[in-house]
Amino acid sequence: MNQMPRDLAQIENAHVEEAYARWAPIYDLAFTTVMAPGRRAAVAAAQRLGGKVLDVGVGTGLELPMFDADVALVGVDLSEPMLRRAQTRIAREKLSRVAGVCVMDATRLAFADGAFDAVVAPFVLTVVPDPHATLAELARVTRVGGEIVLVNHVGAEAGPIAWIERWMGKRSASLGWRPEFPWEILGDWIVSRQDLKLVERRKIAPLGLFTLTRIEKLS
Ligand SMILES: C[S@@+](CC[C@H](N)C(=O)[O-])C[C@H]1O[C@@H](n2cnc3c(N)ncnc32)[C@H](O)[C@@H]1O
Repeated sequence: MNQMPRDLAQIENAHVEEAYARWAPIYDLAFTTVMAPGRRAAVAAAQRLGGKVLDVGVGTGLELPMFDADVALVGVDLSEPMLRRAQTRIAREKLSRVAGVCVMDATRLAFADGAFDAVVAPFVLTVVPDPHATLAELARVTRVGGEIVLVNHVGAEAGPIAWIERWMGKRSASLGWRPEFPWEILGDWIVSRQDLKLVERRKIAPLGLFTLTRIEKLS
């Protein structure tokens, strides 16, 4: 098992719940537009693989209306206040493609092995307390030939942006995410798993701020 970088900010589930209880009322106002290209790219990649998709860290459900009507979606999240907003959206926009959303920890998913054609997690990996345990669980519930589709910010390696991210990283617990997130956390983990293969790593608008990662389950 890969080790997490020792200086990476520690986040706990309680921090996530506190932070997203604060973010929930203003989340859509702050994060709808800037993250829309990433959500659209994740949805497009996931729904070409088949009809059953799990959205992990679904939050207020901003990506749910982007899926085609014939996809069967399930959404999970640790934060009840975020999910309440997702439920309002599902009812308001009559999103019958959503079979349900429920409170669940990404490291302990109550689904069978290989239950989904694709698992999407837009803007989640830098937020979860344990990225490796989360990735392992996402891989477990993905069917052979299916994919894990991630979008997240990958931290700068050097220069002023890296310095700012490190400074902001000291506030990760209250922010609810890690501004500094080296690619190695994800890349080295994929390499360590013989049953998985990196099939795409691509910068996403705006300004290449985010990275789309597709991981195929081989066996
Ligand atoms: C930045 S939001 C992204 C929400 C949504 N995917 C979007 O694109 O707007 C991150 C979400 O991950 C959720 N989250 C963090 N840790 C989690 C965990 N261990 N299990 C499930 N959800 C988690 C947070 O509650 C939050 O709603």
